[in-house]
Amino acid sequence: MAKAKKKVLRFGILGAGSIAIYRHAPEIATHPNAEIAAIYDPITERAEDLADEFGGDVYDSVEEVLGDDSIDAVVVATPNAYHCPLTVAALKAGKDVLCEKPMATSLKDAKKMIQTAKQTGRKLMIGHNQRLMSPHVKAKEILESGVLGRVLTFRTSFGHGGPEMWSQDQGPHTWFFKKEEAFVGSMGDLGVHKTDLVRWLLADEVKEAAAFVETLEKTNEKGKLITVDDNAVCILKMKSGAVGQLTASWTYKSAEDNTTTLYCENGMMVLGANPDYPVEVMLASGEEALYKVGAIATNDVQVRSGVPDLFIDSLLNDTDPEISGAEGYKALAIVVACLESADTGTVAKVKS
Ligand SMILES: NC(=O)c1ccc[n+]([C@@H]2O[C@H](COP(=O)([O-])OP(=O)(O)OC[C@H]3O[C@@H](n4cnc5c(N)ncnc54)[C@H](O)[C@@H]3O)[C@@H](O)[C@H]2O)c1
Repeated sequence: MAKAKKKVLRFGILGAGSIAIYRHAPEIATHPNAEIAAIYDPITERAEDLADEFGGDVYDSVEEVLGDDSIDAVVVATPNAYHCPLTVAALKAGKDVLCEKPMATSLKDAKKMIQTAKQTGRKLMIGHNQRLMSPHVKAKEILESGVLGRVLTFRTSFGHGGPEMWSQDQGPHTWFFKKEEAFVGSMGDLGVHKTDLVRWLLADEVKEAAAFVETLEKTNEKGKLITVDDNAVCILKMKSGAVGQLTASWTYKSAEDNTTTLYCENGMMVLGANPDYPVEVMLASGEEALYKVGAIATNDVQVRSGVPDLFIDSLLNDTDPEISGAEGYKALAIVVACLESADTGTVAKVKS
């Protein structure tokens, strides 16, 4: 009897920058059911380097990638301003889309992406990888076990020295520092990871936000303060009534901080603070449990994100991606509320 042919999904990658180099391309290229077919980047040399390392052909335009009927799915890994137009065009061209975070530069655009996915019947996933990291998966399992009781308050922080050393546009001219291409700074780059993590961990929605979103230090190629934030300090109120703090920063020097502390009815849980035990549970009874459960990825230490794996699973099994456009929208809506609060000096409601 002839063996059933293994399904291999053919991917197009739009944007051959750092996230494609460190995560998407290696994770797609090593997946047994996927291969890189096409790569486009306006800086052709970057597409060529990526193709040399991970396979695929270099294409001359987005249109050429989207017009290739042999391509099943597309990864949008470009500066934020192009997420919506490229995603919408790819969905309309019949491709399933994995789009990086923040999913769009406005809630209107995020809605357009979700509606287009619905209209075309294609799948849309957003690259919120924090909830896939093993310490966070363990934390969710512990919270769901009920041992800690309800989360009453929390602190979560994500900060490093800034994206200008990470981006392929290295230096102060990076697109991450320009409002036209990025729309938001540290709060969109790092804060949006934590807005996703908080809603997912607590299985709750953020209702209101009060925030200071500031540009304290980063300067552009002209030596002027950048046009997006480099620090954000936010207070979030959840639907359940829980309140917490979220900070995002591009000015944490020397070490990355990706930590979360949850203060609950029966004790507390600390995530990402102890490198040997990324999950620490301290109960009010005095009992303690330390868990050695993988690591929280940093810019310097990359671990398989699991994002392409999850997307590929959803395509092969024809199921909705867990981190859907609607999930991306909710994470973005909290960022937008924080920006509104900072602009108006008032508490802002999170839009649905
Ligand atoms: N999930 C994560 O943890 C994570 C981490 C870093 C970055 N990101 C996101 O990934 C996206 C890309 O960031 P990066 O760090 O790779 O930036 P980068 O500056 O390293 O690379 C961006 C690339 O996009 C290319 N590009 C620009 N316009 C394009 C277009 N119209 N079509 C195709 N390519 C285009 C640029 O030439 C560049 O090579 C951003 O949205 C960022 O927020 C996500």
